[in-house]
Amino acid sequence: MLEETAGLLQEIASYRDRAPEDGRMPPPQVYLSEELYEIEMDRVFRHEWICVGREEQLPEPGDFLTIQLLEEPIVVVRGRDRELRALSNVCRHRYMKVAEDSGNARFFLCPYHKWSYNLDGKLRSAPGMEGNRTFDPDHCALPAFRLETWQGFIFVTLDDAISPLNERLRSATERCAEYDLAAWKTTAWYDEVWNGNWKLSCENGMDSYHHMGLHETTAEPCMPGLGTYFAEAHDHWNYHRTPILPDRALELGYDLKRLGDKMGLREEDRACMNAVFVYPNLIFPITPWSSTWLSVLPVDRSHSRIISGWSAPQAYLDDVDEDAFRVESSEGLDQLNAEDAQGTWRLQSVLGSRQIERGPIGAKERAVFHFWRYMAGMFSATT
Ligand code: FES
Ligand SMILES: [Fe+2]
Repeated sequence: MLEETAGLLQEIASYRDRAPEDGRMPPPQVYLSEELYEIEMDRVFRHEWICVGREEQLPEPGDFLTIQLLEEPIVVVRGRDRELRALSNVCRHRYMKVAEDSGNARFFLCPYHKWSYNLDGKLRSAPGMEGNRTFDPDHCALPAFRLETWQGFIFVTLDDAISPLNERLRSATERCAEYDLAAWKTTAWYDEVWNGNWKLSCENGMDSYHHMGLHETTAEPCMPGLGTYFAEAHDHWNYHRTPILPDRALELGYDLKRLGDKMGLREEDRACMNAVFVYPNLIFPITPWSSTWLSVLPVDRSHSRIISGWSAPQAYLDDVDEDAFRVESSEGLDQLNAEDAQGTWRLQSVLGSRQIERGPIGAKERAVFHFWRYMAGMFSATT
């Protein structure tokens, strides 16, 4: 290991003992180091539940989407029994991907020599394989990875041993229960690669203090960043809150009182955004009318695939023209994400400066501090 990397790991380890009030940003090299990136993939992404999309993307048997998680190409598919599965997307013959992009399939047909697989991964046919004594169709199923859903989000893990996601997120489930997020409908989707280290995008997502900067004309007028305060940190998630100005919300068509009544929201949540961060990569700020969530999937040291959506509760959708709202929410989501994408890139572009002094992490952005404490724990875990 390089001396520089060892020093970075030492710095990160110090978040375990440091008080949040003494929190400072880590050295900028944590976003630049190739070696640290490899360690993060190995220690964090290989041993965590990773959000890869929403269940509603795959409503029918045969619906599938594809992702790359570290070195594993994966196809997530709804089977004929309606179960979701995460299957290895590598043919058992000579290693071609059996599915590309997303869509609906009756079965997966490998484009190389036309082996085919059922939606549960079992080999369906392998034409012309007679004459090889090692060929055993019963041992040619596509292997499955663990998959769980939570609040309508699909999570996959490469680790067979970590505890179940729904067990880990029990306290978050209780906190979010009133919203019934699994039933929310995503009216706009977004899938882009951003310039910037994955942690910059995550940190940006768990900070609403920046409304006043990056989202001055979009989020800020209705949810002023200075109102933000940190709420709670748990082992696997944290959240912060930003009060909503009810009059400004009403001008935008969001009647907080009526939505709160219809949805049966707690009094304290009716005029407030709860912004939840599930480690290591899912961010979903919840207001009574929307969640503009995003999942950050590292591509390499300085690029991340951002899968994002604008989801809304039926209580809100009942009151709007859904077709018009699809257009409106799509424009809104693109705008917000463009602002955050630009923010991430602008941060990444200056990190090589030798004049950088590690800045303080304020109380309003304390989620960032807790994220680093989590990272310190993952690096020290004996997995
Ligand atoms: S690689 Fe898939 S059929 Fe040959
Ligand atoms: Fe933002």
